[in-house]
Amino acid sequence: MLNYTAKLLGGLSVLVACFAVHASEHYGAHCAACHGSDGSGNAALNAPNLTHLSEPYMKRQVAAFKQGWRQSSDAASPSAIMAAAIESLDSTLLDLAVSEAAQLVPVTPKRTSLEEFDLRKGRSQYTAFCGSCHGTTATGNDRLGAPALVGLEVAYLVRQYRAFASGARGSHKSDRYGQQMARLAKALPNADQIENVMAYVESLTQ
Ligand code: HEC
Ligand code: HEC
Repeated sequence: MLNYTAKLLGGLSVLVACFAVHASEHYGAHCAACHGSDGSGNAALNAPNLTHLSEPYMKRQVAAFKQGWRQSSDAASPSAIMAAAIESLDSTLLDLAVSEAAQLVPVTPKRTSLEEFDLRKGRSQYTAFCGSCHGTTATGNDRLGAPALVGLEVAYLVRQYRAFASGARGSHKSDRYGQQMARLAKALPNADQIENVMAYVESLTQ
């Protein structure tokens, strides 16, 4: 009986292992090299954490990279690198990879100290200008197309906010959601304010 149970458990764990490999097959082959096998991102490669992002948001962004809505003219920029990474992949494969990414367990690696930022100021500005769409705890709101900001780090968040402000992101006439955010990118006019707000967002998961 014991032997039988052990065999059964052994069989089950092989099955679970197969499922785990299968469940991230496309993500593992095409995305993990930059975003990490657990999806938590890689700051050295400027690749963001994907594990808090919803499937509809990620699908839209992957399409946006394909269409050049997030692209900068600098081929060495993070957005151009992401666009080049998926250039040759067809939409069926990308959909599968994104569905797998959306099933990754939410994780937030412990990052750099946030001591240099004014989190109190960041919090009050976040509440005044951002929380209505991104949520009080920055977990996002798919109905409004506003992504979760938690789990993303200051450098990535600041880069995106600046991209909206400069028009590098959110300026294409068909990019409805990007345009909404681009309008809000004027709410924080100086660099300190932007950094404090993003540090506050990062502090929510630290
Ligand atoms: C060569 C490295 C690389 C590979 C491979 C790669 N990415 Fe990326 N990805 C990036 C970088 C860098 C960014 C940040 C771009 C920016 O700052 O605009 C990014 C951004 C993203 C974003 C936007 C996240 C957000 O918060 O808006 C999504 C979604 C994404 N990648 C999904 C994927 C998926 C799915 C795959 C596999 C099919 C993939 N990536 C493969 C480097 C990569
Ligand atoms: C009117 C609703 C709205 C408000 C208010 C708003 N946003 Fe957004 N935000 C959006 C939408 C929609 C997107 C997704 C745009 C897209 O699809 O490209 C977005 C995207 C972002 C992103 C990109 C995230 C990523 O993963 O790449 C950042 C960063 C961001 N917002 C920061 C802010 C900050 C900071 C504020 C406050 C100053 C703010 N937002 C206020 C709607 C809003």
